[in-house]
Amino acid sequence: MKENIGIGLAGFGTVGAGVFDVLQHQRDLLAERSGFQFEVRSIVVRDLKKVRDVAAPSELFTTSWRNLLKDPEIKIVVELLGGTTDAFEFIKAAIESGRIVVTGNKALLAEHGEEIFALAKKHDVPIFYEAAVAGGIPIIQSVRDAFVGNRIESIHGILNGTSNYILSHMQEAGPDYRAALAEATELGYAEADPTLDLNGGDVAHKAIILAALAYGFWVKPEAVRVHGIQEVTATDVFFARDFGYVIKLLATIRAAADHSIEVTVAPTLVSKNSVLASVNGAFNAIAVKGDLVGEALFYGKGAGRKPTASSVVGDLVEAAFALESPARHVGFSSHSLYGASKAPQDVHACYYLRVAVDDQPGVLAKIATIFGEAGIGIASVIQPKAKDKNKTDLVFMTHEAAYGKMSNALEKIKNLSCVKSTPVLFNVESV
Ligand SMILES: NC(=O)c1ccc[n+]([C@@H]2O[C@H](COP(=O)([O-])OP(=O)(O)OC[C@H]3O[C@@H](n4cnc5c(N)ncnc54)[C@H](OP(=O)(O)O)[C@@H]3O)[C@@H](O)[C@H]2O)c1
Repeated sequence: MKENIGIGLAGFGTVGAGVFDVLQHQRDLLAERSGFQFEVRSIVVRDLKKVRDVAAPSELFTTSWRNLLKDPEIKIVVELLGGTTDAFEFIKAAIESGRIVVTGNKALLAEHGEEIFALAKKHDVPIFYEAAVAGGIPIIQSVRDAFVGNRIESIHGILNGTSNYILSHMQEAGPDYRAALAEATELGYAEADPTLDLNGGDVAHKAIILAALAYGFWVKPEAVRVHGIQEVTATDVFFARDFGYVIKLLATIRAAADHSIEVTVAPTLVSKNSVLASVNGAFNAIAVKGDLVGEALFYGKGAGRKPTASSVVGDLVEAAFALESPARHVGFSSHSLYGASKAPQDVHACYYLRVAVDDQPGVLAKIATIFGEAGIGIASVIQPKAKDKNKTDLVFMTHEAAYGKMSNALEKIKNLSCVKSTPVLFNVESV
């Protein structure tokens, strides 16, 4: 006898429709493997008239999530609405009504995770959110459950397929940022409004969730330094290669020696020999370093209908098991074994700095003096042959320095009369 589980599906877009489709097409496989049959009893959408690319009985559709919570046969709700307003109200009401929640909403968890999990704990309702980070890659379960005995030293992640597609295309074929973005849009790798993918916001949401799992508390969004890929030029890709590096939009999550937690999202030069350098196209990868496991690498598709539905359906089966036996946790365990998060100004890194300057003697010395006064060591510098007879690029690789120190020095460099445009600053990481 297979047990029937009533599901309420909020959202029938890219992921929601994909989940519905999988529940129909993999019904037998799921029933045999898990012992459950999932029955979608209600679907919440905004527009009842929209033509859907996955067919579902019209009587299931409603425009109000409140209707979904009125059905006592719905035991698990799946939130795939997106956004942080209606989705937040819906999840809170679902928890208060005792429904188990499955969600893929990284923005909501990054902004309101603390409140949501406190409410879940109060009502003893588990929340599953594997799809919220890196789509089809099971990174949530791995960091939270499989590595539970580890002290996590660091997590480095390529967590946005759109930006990784653009950067690796620039690396391979040499177009500038705008041309690479246009191509990504044409091929469907970038959405109509790709702002959050390009400005690092989407990666920051995922990084905050990973940091919470690794270190037991929710880093506030304002404590994360976030830079996107908009400033990366073909020139930088070229110079990085000259130094033996590849540029990636990298989330760096780390416990410092004093136990404070650093979370940074920035274009970052990684050695061309590192595994992360070879992660190309729309793929995601996450390198986790634990004191017991050592280095572990996860690689796969971080978005898209099928990979994301794969994670949501996995969560649904976990949720069904949690219905049968009291859940051992609500999905996140807060603790205070680590200190607070480190202010972005205090986070140390090595840097790549490109400055466009007048092609005149003495310019290099002026910039070196600013670095010297700030106590920032220069590891190497290149001055390529000037293409323009009046202007040239100076490219510096620095030793480790606090970001606050580096940005003060940058301000001074910017104000030098010999500097022709805003300098470009990226991180350099050994991963
Ligand atoms: N797309 C991915 O690859 C991916 C990967 C990982 C995680 N996620 C996360 O999964 C969630 C869903 O993403 P998605 O790409 O599937 O979004 P989407 O394609 O925009 O779909 C959103 C769905 O929710 C419905 N909806 C939105 N707001 C609503 C409201 N206030 N009331 C009623 N219905 C509402 C929409 O209705 P209509 O159809 O009528 O417009 C639509 O069906 C997001 O949190 C996203 O971050 C997505």
